[in-house]
Amino acid sequence: MGFVTGGSILAVRYELIKECKQSGARLGRLHTPHGVIDTPIFMPVGTLATVKTMSPEELKEMGAGIILSNTYHLFLRPGHEIVKEAGGLHSFMNWDRAILTDSGGFQVFSLSKLRDITEEGVTFRSHLNGEKLFIGPEKAMEIQNALGADIIMAFDECPPYPADREYVKASTERTYRWLKRCIKAHRRPEEQALFGIIQGGMHQDLRKESAQQLAELDLPGYAVGGLSVGESKELMYEVLSYTTPLMPKDKPRYLMGVGSPDALIQGAVYGIDMFDCVLPTRIARNGTAMTSQGRVVVRNAKYARDFTPLDPECDCYTCRNYSRAYLRHLIKADETFGLRLTTYHNLYFLLRLMEKVRQAIREDRLLDFRDSFMMKYYGSLT
Ligand code: GUN
Ligand code: ZN
Repeated sequence: MGFVTGGSILAVRYELIKECKQSGARLGRLHTPHGVIDTPIFMPVGTLATVKTMSPEELKEMGAGIILSNTYHLFLRPGHEIVKEAGGLHSFMNWDRAILTDSGGFQVFSLSKLRDITEEGVTFRSHLNGEKLFIGPEKAMEIQNALGADIIMAFDECPPYPADREYVKASTERTYRWLKRCIKAHRRPEEQALFGIIQGGMHQDLRKESAQQLAELDLPGYAVGGLSVGESKELMYEVLSYTTPLMPKDKPRYLMGVGSPDALIQGAVYGIDMFDCVLPTRIARNGTAMTSQGRVVVRNAKYARDFTPLDPECDCYTCRNYSRAYLRHLIKADETFGLRLTTYHNLYFLLRLMEKVRQAIREDRLLDFRDSFMMKYYGSLT
């Protein structure tokens, strides 16, 4: 499996279809061993080889073409060897569309305890049982090669925010050295596309250096990491505004860990093609829906007798069949069906939002779409 480009065979190929004349956003297609994906796209998160509460059939029905899973979690449980024995992640979880795995470089910092970073990699204690473990670039590739996702991510460090410039500089340079080790250790480049991750914190010169160094490696795709880590939206957009112009135009661009509706649209405006975030699935499970009129906290008492759908403009399974009052009842009673219905709606909402973004790019009116969406969802343009 693979695409021939310039003499080499690549697992994933990006096709740029057009740029929006009003915003510069990109409309494209991502060709993977498990299907073609229209971009910009949102990837639902399935950390533990399941998008929490959703079946693969439901994900397909709502139009998901690619989901994300996590190296760190699957390494801890059930272990990559077991997934490999099952025939890889696609077969293990019965998902025949595309999968991207994150490298563990982010989760090891956010979830594990007592981690120790050296040039070699990261030693940490499992957040499940305290066991002492190690992941470095070679291990991250071994695990991801065993899992078998279509797109795999380089092992990186996402520096905390705020952090002083010297730390971010040293960390970004180490992430680059780790990337070169990942490229060497990758055993299945014809089946799995390795994406590099641009770091550099909130520093323009460090981002520039990272983006340029990575571009020279001619990878099949590039991610912007180290954002949405506590900085303001304005600062995140500023970093994006000077980072994406330095990224190769003929490769997919992935903004990691971003999924609020405003940031999906604004990210597309800055030329991002792929996004992932736990936000829609996580807030669904505490009873919050994303709707055409903004967030609806369906557990609130004011919905006890509201027999209208979650979102009057939505035609998803949940909105066609159930009321806010019923969903509120299920969620308050801790009924799992309530979690499923709300998760289904939120994912459907974001996938439809990306479809509207793509249509607006096609018609050169993404900035107009952004402004009318913002007014309706947030009640203001920012
Ligand atoms: N998810 C969100 N941000 C990041 C990042 O900077 N690196 C990785 N590997 N995953 C992320
Ligand atoms: Zn709905």
